[in-house]
Amino acid sequence: MKHIIVDCDTGIDDSIAILYALKSNKLHVEGFTTVYGNTSSMQAAENTLRLIKLAKCGYDIPVLVGANESMTGDAEPYPVHIHGDNGIGNVELPESEQKPLNEDAADFIIKKAEELKGDLTIVALGRLTNIAAALEKDPRLPYKIKHMVVMGGAFHKPGNISPYAEANIYGDAKASDIVFRAGFPMTVVGLDVTMETFLSARDITLLCKYCREENREVVQYIQSALEYYFQFSYESMGCLDNSVVHDPLAMVIAEDPSIGEYRMVRAAVEYENKEFRGMIKRDEGFIPVYDHDEILYCIRVNSDLAVRRLLSVF
Ligand code: BDR
Ligand code: CA
Repeated sequence: MKHIIVDCDTGIDDSIAILYALKSNKLHVEGFTTVYGNTSSMQAAENTLRLIKLAKCGYDIPVLVGANESMTGDAEPYPVHIHGDNGIGNVELPESEQKPLNEDAADFIIKKAEELKGDLTIVALGRLTNIAAALEKDPRLPYKIKHMVVMGGAFHKPGNISPYAEANIYGDAKASDIVFRAGFPMTVVGLDVTMETFLSARDITLLCKYCREENREVVQYIQSALEYYFQFSYESMGCLDNSVVHDPLAMVIAEDPSIGEYRMVRAAVEYENKEFRGMIKRDEGFIPVYDHDEILYCIRVNSDLAVRRLLSVF
């Protein structure tokens, strides 16, 4: 069982990753910390609480509201055309009785890393603002966790927010740079692989047919939320009834890294030059010294297997 904290900006693809984590019997979610991005960090926490209730996972999971702006204070408008006004495709899920914990998200990450004595994996599905804040408070954090999986970046493919940058990395490029250079044992799952992994309307129709009875409501939610997402996918990329799903792939990889292939790099992120903001600057030529100074970035993935895994938990 992997113990994870999910740091997320609960939009549509985050929500599917969250539901996967809650349903997987190989992952134990220690808590959720939220960050602005697809929606505000407050709304992301509200969405997460409702998803926990929907998943009926049988144990209380702390949800903490994290950063609501980037380290440099830049505010981007929320992408309501992708994730809807409420972040989850305007699907109205029943309210949860649970409230967010009144604790600092960065402190919570540090506390859990200490409690779990090297056995914590962080899965970061949004901007890296909370992780950078935790690092600022505890520079030894990289040495206290087992691993971190980050959905973000584009190494060989073009970006999705600018020609050079992916949205999560661009959204707080300074935090990304700090985190990328901090020595975290980390895997980066970027557009190079997420843009190759599609979920289709047919997959979801089959899922509706074959899901376990106890997951019916969860699957109905996924279907409704994806309808909104597919619309964006059609308008922006011409994909008919299917879409790439970024965050769920990162979650499946966090659970089982063997579905991907990786290259070891040392990387930094451009945050000063406006045009290239969020661009990953990599150095593949270094000799790893096994002091946690390397990043594994995912260059290939078995997409069919990833999608089958994703659907199998429901
Ligand atoms: C990333 O940006 C967000 O919109 C998605 O949730 C994903 O984490 C993809 O660029
Ligand atoms: Ca996300």
